[in-house]
Amino acid sequence: MKEITWTKDLFVGIELIDEQHKMLISHLNDLSRALSSQQGPAKIASTLNFLIDYTHFHFTEEEKHMKANGWPELENHKKMHAAFKATLANLEEDLEEEGATQALADSIDTLLVKWLFEHISEVDVAFGQFLKEKGVEIPEEK
Ligand SMILES: [Fe+2]
Repeated sequence: MKEITWTKDLFVGIELIDEQHKMLISHLNDLSRALSSQQGPAKIASTLNFLIDYTHFHFTEEEKHMKANGWPELENHKKMHAAFKATLANLEEDLEEEGATQALADSIDTLLVKWLFEHISEVDVAFGQFLKEKGVEIPEEK
């Protein structure tokens, strides 16, 4: 699984969300590195855990801002987030049961990376445009 980089296709235009997406990608890359260099089951499990925790945090934040700004697609968006969280939970189960197999690395590549790119570049970007039209800015929390 190759490392992924943040590109302008993923630019949502909302500072807070863009920064969180970069962090999400960095957690994905940590997992990818742990898998490809066979850093051992404990390390792989912990990077997957960090990714899961951060994903939950980020989705909650995104949904909070969607709700606060009356984004009409909120319910739909929540369903997509829930499906992705379920995918992550399944991967965690697979890792516990079967260890870090090539199949797991492949699913991370296809399920996580592909989903994330498509989701951000299509759905989150639409939310970014919606906020921009409303003139809403959400700065990064420091
Ligand atoms: Fe999203």
